[in-house]
Amino acid sequence: MENIASTERHPLKGRVPMKPDYEGFTERVVNDYSNIENPRLKYIVTNLIKHLHEYLVETKITDQEYEFAWDFMKRMADMTSPERNEFILFADVVGVSQLIETLNHQSQNQPVGFALLGPFYRDGAPFRERGSSTASDDTAGKRVRIFGKVLDYENNTPIAGAILDIWQAATNGFYENQDENQPDYNLRGRFKTDENGTFEIIALMPTAYPVPTDGPVGELLMAAKRPPMRPAHIHFIVTYPGHETLITQIFVKGDPMIYEDVVFTASANMIGDFKEEGDHFRLNIDFPLKHGESTMPKAPVPTEGGHHGYH
Ligand code: BEZ
Ligand code: FE
Repeated sequence: MENIASTERHPLKGRVPMKPDYEGFTERVVNDYSNIENPRLKYIVTNLIKHLHEYLVETKITDQEYEFAWDFMKRMADMTSPERNEFILFADVVGVSQLIETLNHQSQNQPVGFALLGPFYRDGAPFRERGSSTASDDTAGKRVRIFGKVLDYENNTPIAGAILDIWQAATNGFYENQDENQPDYNLRGRFKTDENGTFEIIALMPTAYPVPTDGPVGELLMAAKRPPMRPAHIHFIVTYPGHETLITQIFVKGDPMIYEDVVFTASANMIGDFKEEGDHFRLNIDFPLKHGESTMPKAPVPTEGGHHGYH
């Protein structure tokens, strides 16, 4: 590809008149953003412009394709509301969200992998007693009893008072905020580890569900002939002060769908061994936390008025 960003052939001093061809055009645009004071912001913006220009030159996007692109983004915006963000969903299905998690957090021998947050995290989930269930009694499906420890990754000692914030979809594929038939905060809850760092949770045995396909992202998946499915999983955010927050998802060992996760998250270090025990399942899982900054993600689903029943 021709290097249109070469400053050797086209040294620029301040503003230059545009040439009839695109030679020097990218430098001119980038130069117009060189007054951004924050160095990180300047780097992000100018690099984005360079890569966008390279992309357009390489793919030779036509007028009609450009119209399609901005209309697609307009339709993504129309689909976006306080309860639903089509832009996050887009980033998820093209691998951007999972790549960001991996780039920022993954280290070698990561015992439990970092997963994208997804669009359905809602904060303010009730604190629940050790051994209690996140599922209302009338929630259909089998239960899983989850036992484990939160540990300090560096020295393997248990962490007392760590918080696990968990959430999952019902067997009908809907999170409680999507489904007016589920009680508020159903299948969501926060649990604290005891003085030995252990926790005990009853949750719903997870099942696979499709991501929302009634917007532009659904069209993209259809065009690519990609099934919109997420393999069965439970989301966890594990936090403790002075430790890097672990956002993960635990998938079911032996589930063939883990190889076809529509958002590219399921991977070897997020697999739980769910064992059948009579009428329920049992999962033993430990969460090691590295030393670092304890942060919480911005919740895509608002705390207030979670019930909007969009499908
Ligand atoms: C989820 O697991 O909740 C999810 C993640 C990405 C896109 C849609 C749903
Ligand atoms: Fe999910």
